[in-house]
Amino acid sequence: MHNIFFGTVIRGRGKGKKMGFPTINIKLVNCELPINKGVYVVWVTINNQIFKGMMYTGTRPTFELQKTTIEIHLLDYQENIYDMQISFQILHKIREEIHFENVGELVRQLHHDKEMVYKYFGNLIN
Ligand SMILES: Cc1cc2nc3c(=O)[nH]c(=O)nc-3n(C[C@H](O)[C@H](O)[C@H](O)COP(=O)(O)O)c2cc1C
Repeated sequence: MHNIFFGTVIRGRGKGKKMGFPTINIKLVNCELPINKGVYVVWVTINNQIFKGMMYTGTRPTFELQKTTIEIHLLDYQENIYDMQISFQILHKIREEIHFENVGELVRQLHHDKEMVYKYFGNLIN
């Protein structure tokens, strides 16, 4: 769908981890992301290994925040990778950004998004 983007992993607020969806927050190296806010299926390359992920870019309206961020929840990678250089490729848009009523609604949607990612890659869900 798009080119490959390069970025550095920076610290988020650590809220994602508490919700069961830890994310790596990305600072792009040399450009802006030329796409609209929303949730996307991505491939992420870390240390020459490739992982499935779901990327969110937006202002996190559920938390009344204003700054646009780029975050990726990796489906099969758990380790801390702060300050590392990564690259990612955007494959498919899942949905638009939503202003959820509460965090519970957001988490419910994140589980659904994850199923969409597995479906996209043609894997089984457990
Ligand atoms: C796949 C994915 C989809 C998301 N979708 C939304 C969304 O629609 N609306 C929203 O307000 N936040 C959304 N978020 C952002 C969460 O609010 C965010 O991960 C959480 O606030 C943790 O932020 P932190 O990394 O700063 O701790 C999404 C995050 C991910 C990983």
